[in-house]
Amino acid sequence: MNLSTSRRTAAAAVLALAGLLAATAPSASAAPRAALAAPDIPIANVKAHLNQLQSIATANGGNRAHGRPGYKASIDYVKAKLDAAGFTTSVQQFTSSGATGYNLIADWPGGDANQVLMAGAHLDSVTSGAGINDNGTGSAAVLETALAVSRAQLKPTKHLRFGWWGAEELGLVGSKYYVNQLPSTERTKFSGYLNFDMIGSPNPGYFVYDDDPAIEKTFKDFYTGLGVPTEIETEGDGRSDHASFKNVGIPVGGLFTGASRTKSSAQAQKWGGTAGQAFDRCYHSSCDTTANINDTALDRNSDAIAHAIWTLGTEPTTPPGESTENTTDVAIPDNGAAVTSPVTIAGRTGNAPTALKVGVDVKHTWRGDVVLDLVAPDGTAYRLKDSSSNDSADNVITTYTVNASSEPANGIWKLRAQDVAAQDTGYIDSWKLTF
Ligand code: TRP
Ligand code: ZN
Ligand code: CA
Repeated sequence: MNLSTSRRTAAAAVLALAGLLAATAPSASAAPRAALAAPDIPIANVKAHLNQLQSIATANGGNRAHGRPGYKASIDYVKAKLDAAGFTTSVQQFTSSGATGYNLIADWPGGDANQVLMAGAHLDSVTSGAGINDNGTGSAAVLETALAVSRAQLKPTKHLRFGWWGAEELGLVGSKYYVNQLPSTERTKFSGYLNFDMIGSPNPGYFVYDDDPAIEKTFKDFYTGLGVPTEIETEGDGRSDHASFKNVGIPVGGLFTGASRTKSSAQAQKWGGTAGQAFDRCYHSSCDTTANINDTALDRNSDAIAHAIWTLGTEPTTPPGESTENTTDVAIPDNGAAVTSPVTIAGRTGNAPTALKVGVDVKHTWRGDVVLDLVAPDGTAYRLKDSSSNDSADNVITTYTVNASSEPANGIWKLRAQDVAAQDTGYIDSWKLTF
């Protein structure tokens, strides 16, 4: 055994011991490590990628469209940068409209494989132009963020994955293909997908997707820090690749600076630019070149992507099996009104699990009198237990499993108990939710 191997073994033993101590320590005392701060993404680097994509289009008939040589050349350019930076890349082929399309997937080694955080952008243009705002901007900013992850040698808690989609302009074809070929067990491992499509429009707005609340908040917090107001993205919800992920239940978010819609005077007042003019007058046109970019918008959005990757990717991951308990006794009046006991869930992303465990400890002298429901934050009730005139045993001390996958995880959940027959009584002693 050489020295470096034995050192690694000793270090591994220390880590294992630390893990053991952390696992047995009471969870309340384990102060969670805060998420790390993101680096500034150099706008010059992002623009250098745009110049390369412009050159690729110019050398290939003026576009980077699906099935045209400029598309594959774009894939090769992005892939070479990622390979050199230590990513594990793969190119996925599909067929659309009789032509071969390509997705590029880049994994950053490490992080929790059961909690994947992915950022992506479509790399194809329409045939009428080079597609520098649509979507060289998203492609270049995601690429430069990935390269910043490599420069920082980031050790995220989540597993980071980056994607560049083909044939978005033909109807989200590449991203749909990617999601469809994922086994359902892999889909459940996504903690989020972040989409960037048109983030440097020349007459920009600052739009944040309002799909997943935790992801939306991450972007809004960044813009609040800059003192720049944002609006919710409404110019064709579902018109980009995040829809492919959202359709299979993956939490999504993203940024957008506007396409053919017109900037209002109120928007021009808060963001500058020209009222009564499209956010991008060159949308899907031959003039979508490197001249069709607002550098400030592209700079801010590139930094916002890094902020989201660093914040969501390095936040302490909540280990499966963690419980939140309410131990305050709540009396259940005899043959009376329903009572509730709350449990607050915060800081999670996405929905509750398909197998949400509801641990119940109800003391009662005749449990057949008792009806129990789990009430989700939006008021949806899940029946745990009905009354029964012949169940004369006492107490309900058990764990129920509820498919709560259509409910956002965060919010105030309640155990609701009602005693529906006279004489025997009891109380909620404690209950807990295990995610
Ligand atoms: N995806 C569209 C395109 O490539 C552009 C677009 C329109 C868009 N509306 C959107 C992108 C809303 C993101 C969000 O042509
Ligand atoms: Zn487009
Ligand atoms: Ca009773």
